[in-house]
Amino acid sequence: MADQPIMRIRGVHKYFRRGEEQIDVLKNLSLDVGKGEFLGIMGPSGSGKTTLLNLIAGLDRPSEGEVWIGERLISKMSEAELASWRTRSIGFVFQFYHLLPVLTAYENVELPLLLLPLSAAARKQQVLTALDLVGLTNRLTHRPGQLSGGQQQRVGIARAIVTDPILIVADEPTGDLDARSAEEILDLMGELQKGLRKTILLVTHDPRAAERAQRIVHLEKGRLVEGAPSTAIRGAGAAVAAPAAQTGIRP
Ligand SMILES: Nc1ncnc2c1ncn2[C@@H]1O[C@H](COP(=O)(O)OP(=O)(O)O)[C@@H](O)[C@H]1O
Ligand SMILES: [Mg+2]
Repeated sequence: MADQPIMRIRGVHKYFRRGEEQIDVLKNLSLDVGKGEFLGIMGPSGSGKTTLLNLIAGLDRPSEGEVWIGERLISKMSEAELASWRTRSIGFVFQFYHLLPVLTAYENVELPLLLLPLSAAARKQQVLTALDLVGLTNRLTHRPGQLSGGQQQRVGIARAIVTDPILIVADEPTGDLDARSAEEILDLMGELQKGLRKTILLVTHDPRAAERAQRIVHLEKGRLVEGAPSTAIRGAGAAVAAPAAQTGIRP
């Protein structure tokens, strides 16, 4: 594992109540992720992968246990604290992109920055840098409907990195893409990790996607099982290191 943990999960349980019934989704999970690490989280459908990511991203809270991100115990934050922390600290990439159809690529990427105290000039620079990192400077004024799935996911990734988050969490980011676009998105995530030293949590049930990760954990019926580390780490980092160095998007 690289450096000291940037994420620590301790004794996390998550259950949902449906009337009388209690559904135990996550059971006594503990997990550390190092700064700059690329972790793959695998598991069958319904095993709790999205539930786990939501706890890590501060979209939901555990029923029991602790989630630490950096120095912050996010499992104890109030809703308001969480919302503001999340905007600054987490970049979320979704399977179905979650772009706003009426906004351009530029405007979609700009959205999270509108919640932060930045000058218009700084905001513009961050947006253009993020779109440059994902190779979309020639699509700034396109709307999602005018972009391919792979391009839409690139916009999604630009939106995830534009705030320079501590963690990038991606929930099946290639699940809706053809094989070639999926490869490109995985290459890009590898570049973010190697070039910008971003910490990435990738949820997937595609073994080819998981093989890009440095380490894989498996969720099985709500419990974590450590997998054998993958040796296949591809993607060159040099291409993305240079533009990032000139902006607020730092490793
Ligand atoms: N808000 C909720 N209320 C009740 N059950 C839920 C809720 N969210 C998830 N679950 C249940 O938790 C289990 C794990 O779901 P999920 O984390 O989405 O799995 P995965 O992402 O691995 O497919 C499923 O059985 C699902 O029905
Ligand atoms: Mg899921």
